[in-house]
Amino acid sequence: MTRRVHRLISWMVCGSFAALSTGALAQGNVEVAVKIRADQPGPVINPNIYGQFAEHLGAGIYEGVWVGEKSSIPNTHGYRNDVIAALKALKVPVVRWPGGCFADEYHWRDGIGPREKRPVKINTHWGGVPETNEFGTHEFMTFAEMIGTKVYISGNVGSGSPQEMADWMEYMTSDTVSTLANERRKNGRDKPWDVHFFGIGNETWGCGGNMRPEYYADLFRQYATYVKAPRGKRPKIVASGGHDAGTKWVEVLTTMVQRDMDAISHHYYTTPSGVWENKGNSLGFPESEWISTLANTLKIDEYITSNEKVLDQNDPQGKVAFYVDEWGTWYSPEPGREPGFLYQQNSLRDALVAALNFHVFHAHAKRVQMANIAQMVNVLQAMILTDGPRMTLTPTYHAFEMYIPFQGATYLPTEIRTPQYSLGQVTVPSVNVTAARDTAGKLQVGLVNLDPKREATVSLEIAGAKASGASGRVLTAASMDAHNTFEAPQTVKPAPISAKRSGDKLVVRLPPRSLAVVELR
Ligand code: AHR
Repeated sequence: MTRRVHRLISWMVCGSFAALSTGALAQGNVEVAVKIRADQPGPVINPNIYGQFAEHLGAGIYEGVWVGEKSSIPNTHGYRNDVIAALKALKVPVVRWPGGCFADEYHWRDGIGPREKRPVKINTHWGGVPETNEFGTHEFMTFAEMIGTKVYISGNVGSGSPQEMADWMEYMTSDTVSTLANERRKNGRDKPWDVHFFGIGNETWGCGGNMRPEYYADLFRQYATYVKAPRGKRPKIVASGGHDAGTKWVEVLTTMVQRDMDAISHHYYTTPSGVWENKGNSLGFPESEWISTLANTLKIDEYITSNEKVLDQNDPQGKVAFYVDEWGTWYSPEPGREPGFLYQQNSLRDALVAALNFHVFHAHAKRVQMANIAQMVNVLQAMILTDGPRMTLTPTYHAFEMYIPFQGATYLPTEIRTPQYSLGQVTVPSVNVTAARDTAGKLQVGLVNLDPKREATVSLEIAGAKASGASGRVLTAASMDAHNTFEAPQTVKPAPISAKRSGDKLVVRLPPRSLAVVELR
């Protein structure tokens, strides 16, 4: 058996280390002290950090959301009933569509008008399969209305023109007698739609055109000029930014763009290996890939921090937000599946990854005002997997559902004294925490026990508020890669958990490899 080393570390404040000493470590269990600063409320956690991303990729849209009206799979006007119900329950605040890389090859006119007359294209980026364009603007907007979410449209810069982008906006949002507005009416939608967010391209450093940031900054200025909407209905305009540790895109964009830019996007995917060519598997992984995945996902904290530094310097008034509009796990393709469809199983490890990301986004709530997990159904770190008429919710779905109380809550800083969990050269804190006061005034605490083998006894001290107890739900399972299948969809599901009062503290016992959300009373 591999020897794991646990060392106690000092108080950590939002990921940084403050100087306070440590106590002894109990065998078989770790002891953690958390102080919640209810007396120091921070910014509001924008609900949009619980956003999603749905691309025309693999079975993400077709099969996942849309099966068509003639399908034997129960549907309402072509949308899967099971998936719509599950997404409604998740209170998805915003969905980004139609890509990704697909967005820079997408021409919106292909996706309007009678479905049988729409052109069939080839999805050259994702698997080279036919794209029927059955799911277009009307279908997406109706989907958004059905699940009650805001919309984030990604415009085509890579292979589209400013005119095409301007026309799409007019088609969607104009309430005038213009030919485009009338065409929308003729196609069945009288009332204009609200477009809440509009992205000017995607990954313009790569699949979105292989541009230099300086070149893209000029294009952003040009394209954004023509993204017009009725008075009071202008979407937030999002510039395509960088990825991973990079800060160059934020540096260039905040220097070269003076207007129209409400946010800069950033992408970061978690792989177990950190090596793109050989990422690691979604299931059946060793403990070394459990810890490396969690350690790699936590790197997003430093990536956001370094971009925030640039933003704080170049945009001290905080006008430009930072949107992590693609994040999540990305594993090696599953044997026997089309690699271009990015289908992967989703285990308890993914749920912990999701929760750790939420905690980081909360801690950066001032700048990070949106985040979109990649992706919603059947692609990468999905909420939902489908197989013909069958559907299962993933552990990641449960993590999103458990953290709903944090949407729109007021962030509360926390201090934590936790042992570290180490394996080989990799070390992470055993426990990670977040706290907030929800919109109903209740204190919510999110906890992750990263250690796959040891329970954590967490004592919670609340500065500036009183609590007599806490209860909530915990997500854990028998193994690190426990997952839900179509045959056994309840393998990983939330269970009740509560905290007991001990003196002036509350004590929660967190099972190994778990996440929990508790509400204080
Ligand atoms: O989410 C899958 C792909 O990852 C997106 O299309 C692209 O933007 C990113 O590289």
